[in-house]
Parts: sequence; structure tokens; C-alpha cells
Amino acid sequence: MPKYREHALVENFFDVRSAVYAGRAWLCSEAAKFDYRQTKGALLSALKPQADENILEIGCGTGIWSKIVAKLCKTLTAIDISAEMLDAAKKAANKKNVKFVKCDFLDYRTKKKFDKIFMVRVMESFKNKERAIKNISKMLKHNGKLVIISKTTPGIWDVSPRIRRFFAGIGFFKLRDADMPRVYVKNISAGGLMELLAKNGFSHLSLGFAVLRPPLFKKDDREIPIIAKPLEKAALDFFGFASRIAGRLPMPGSWILYPFSESYVISATRGI
Ligand SMILES: C[S@@+](CC[C@H](N)C(=O)[O-])C[C@H]1O[C@@H](n2cnc3c(N)ncnc32)[C@H](O)[C@@H]1O
Repeated sequence: MPKYREHALVENFFDVRSAVYAGRAWLCSEAAKFDYRQTKGALLSALKPQADENILEIGCGTGIWSKIVAKLCKTLTAIDISAEMLDAAKKAANKKNVKFVKCDFLDYRTKKKFDKIFMVRVMESFKNKERAIKNISKMLKHNGKLVIISKTTPGIWDVSPRIRRFFAGIGFFKLRDADMPRVYVKNISAGGLMELLAKNGFSHLSLGFAVLRPPLFKKDDREIPIIAKPLEKAALDFFGFASRIAGRLPMPGSWILYPFSESYVISATRGI
């Protein structure tokens, strides 16, 4: 049993949600496919997996990133708190060099030292985020690399689900996931996470955007879907182009755009 009550909620939520998770998050709509392409680009350009590296993935979910990274590295250890998500990952990334572990990451212990560690949209589920960073630090080699993709806060994506709920209440947009069990989610800002990493012995911190677009598409209950379907592709192409320009902006240009991003990517090196 996970130690934190909140983690038990997370485990239950993802057990129930596993059947639809990958489709809804990454495949089912134009916006989901856009998010997939942007996140994949951000992950691979930050992580740069190499053929001689042992990599740990925290919260592998249905294995959407595991199957890509496993092809590029020596071994991948993929852990998840949800047995159902892990079962889906085992089917998606069924390779000899992948080891799957079912556990709460905050309780995970190993003598192995990894070259790189990554997680995509998992940080927000940890009740104790500092404990997660300390645990990562113990199992990452000196000079090893950590890549975290996490949902942005504060920003427009904090507000949009409330607006959608309001309109759902007065009979506009439906709430697709009203019947889902309760889950624990607490986003951490990029600044807050960088501070935590620096405090725990990480250096060479860098910030970029994973997904930079407004919540105006048909995807999930976090969005206000006002962009008409025939215009979705052109609008997403525009935001893809804008993201490429934003990625080249020097500070503080990128910080000005930060509240408009859906998710960010931070990479850091263990040790000074
Ligand atoms: C939002 S999903 C993301 C899945 C995958 N990384 C992706 O991008 O598609 C979060 C995943 O993290 C897992 N997770 C959440 N808290 C965890 C914890 N404390 N230990 C291990 N896995 C956890 C969940 O079970 C779920 O599969």
C-alpha cells in the first residue's frame, strides 16, 4: 500500500483510467496528437538517450515514451504505481532490455545507479515533491541527467478547467470525465522545481516548453473547445510554429510566454 493517502487515490484513478489514458492524452484528437509530437520532441532533445546508457523512467503509464526510449538506450527500468497502467506499458514496450517495476516511486529503493532519469507528467502526482527529488538524487550517477516534463502553473491552464466547469454547469460543454474517481494533483511551477533541484545538489538547470498552446481545442475537461474542427489543424500548425520561435527566445522572452504553456521541460545535472 502506498504510504500517502493521496497516492492511493492516484493509484486507483490510473487503474480505472488506463483503458482510455493513452488515447485521450496522446492520440484521439488533433490537439492530443499535437501534444504528443511536441512532448516527444521536448523529451528526446533534452534526454538524448544513448546506446550505452541505463535509464530510469518514473511513472511510465501506458509506455508511450518507454517504447521510444528503450530502442535508443542499453536498459530501461520503467516504474509505475498503477498495475493497470503498467500492464498496458508491458504490451506497448515489450522488449528484452526493459524491466518493469510496480511501486510507489517514493518507496522505490535500488543499488543501481542510472545514467539518466526522466518522467513525463508525474511530478504533479507526488504529495512530497522534495522526497521524490532526494530519491532521484540517490539513484542518479554523478553528472547524470534528469529530465522532468510537468504541467505548467501558474497560467491559463489553471483557469480553463474552472471556466469549462462553469459553462458545463449552465448547460454548455459537457464534462467528459465527471464519473472519474477523485485524484490528487498539485502542479509545481518551473521556478519552484528549479529551486528544489538547486537545493538538492543539481546544476546546469535549463527550462523549455513541452506544449505551448492555449486550451481552446477539443481534447479533455481542461479545455474550452471553441476552435471549430475544420480550423483545428491550421491553428495547431500556427502554435507549432510559434513554439519553435519561442524555443529560440533568450530569457526573459521565454518566461513571458510561460503562463501560456501547458507543460514545461526542465533538465538538470546531478552534482555541481
Ligand atoms: C499522467 S500519467 C503519465 C503517464 C506517462 N508518463 C505519459 O506521459 O503518458 C501519470 C503516471 O504516473 C504514475 N504515478 C503517479 N504517481 C506515482 C508514484 N508515486 N509512483 C509511481 N508512479 C506514479 C501514474 O500511475 C500514471 O501512470
